[in-house]
Amino acid sequence: MPLVDRFLITGGCGFIGSHVAEALLQQGHSVALVDSLDSYYPAATKRANLEEVGRAGGFRLYEVDVRHPVALRGVFEKERPAIVIHLAARAGVRPSIRRPAVYASVNVGGTLHMLELARAFRVKKFVFASSSSVYGVTSRVPFCEDSADLKPISPYGATKLAGEMLCHAYAHLHGLSVTCLRLFSVYGPRQRPDLVIHKFIASLEAGRPIPIFGDGASGRDFTYIKDIVAGILASVSHGAQYDVFNLGNSRPVTILELVRLLEQITGKRTRLRFLPARAGDVTLTWADITKARRLLGYDPRTSLSQGLKRFLAWRHHAKSPALEGAGL
Ligand SMILES: NC(=O)c1ccc[n+]([C@@H]2O[C@H](COP(=O)([O-])OP(=O)(O)OC[C@H]3O[C@@H](n4cnc5c(N)ncnc54)[C@H](O)[C@@H]3O)[C@@H](O)[C@H]2O)c1
Repeated sequence: MPLVDRFLITGGCGFIGSHVAEALLQQGHSVALVDSLDSYYPAATKRANLEEVGRAGGFRLYEVDVRHPVALRGVFEKERPAIVIHLAARAGVRPSIRRPAVYASVNVGGTLHMLELARAFRVKKFVFASSSSVYGVTSRVPFCEDSADLKPISPYGATKLAGEMLCHAYAHLHGLSVTCLRLFSVYGPRQRPDLVIHKFIASLEAGRPIPIFGDGASGRDFTYIKDIVAGILASVSHGAQYDVFNLGNSRPVTILELVRLLEQITGKRTRLRFLPARAGDVTLTWADITKARRLLGYDPRTSLSQGLKRFLAWRHHAKSPALEGAGL
């Protein structure tokens, strides 16, 4: 990466985007954010994220929806970004089953508009946030990027795979340099309120039983936000025309192990409420990160226990109207 570059981050007010923005500002880069502050979770939570980002330096925020190409073009004309990190998306597996059309319009349509503008404005690197959900019910573990056995089982996973395919077409046709990153269960400060760690801790602290869907034996490869940010930044300098990387921790834990670890860390005991498994949930995510280690120098070092402690410390410190608004 040159000493200072012009970055455009979509979804920059969200969990991962706000951390990427903060890291880039700390390195002295020029940072513009595109975000519609959509209603998936409260805008107040996203504004609180921005307050934390603002401590690292000045940035420009464009409240623009990635489904609106004319407004997006205006942003590209003003910013002329050298690098685009495209994180804006409808995230969340289960809501995608209820509202597949919204997921398709944002995650596929929005990605197409971003690629089209990146091509037109000769962006040097386009980084796309894909997901472990593209693997779906593949039987080959750990999940490896060269697997042809990609079987998403939710509209969310399917839209992320479609996004990757569009990225490939644009790299092939137009010479756009694109890196797709399959992110695995990211957690840490500012984590989305709909994610499992946030919900479990809210239940633990309120003395409510923790709902477990299925038998609790399903495994997730939880990956700490700081490690993910390091992987995203390293991918910006990756020279290939088109490439795909897993960014995970490669140490899956079961949901029951997660609950026990949270009990140990908080010193609180909980009751479990077992409920039927939910459609769209995969039984295991497990990243093979050999390729990212070799080509990006990606080296996730945060243990789940360390990361959870940092998340808890942040959560107590940030116990703000924004979190209350998120129903936590
Ligand atoms: N958090 C994870 O564990 C995880 C795992 C795999 C992939 N990802 C991907 O990483 C990216 C960031 O995820 P996150 O956890 O930070 O989610 P997030 O919801 O916190 O951030 C997404 C941001 O995108 C914005 N956004 C949504 N729709 C938009 C639209 N139409 N136009 C402009 N902005 C819009 C939202 O307002 C939000 O600020 C997403 O693409 C997600 O699919 C996340």
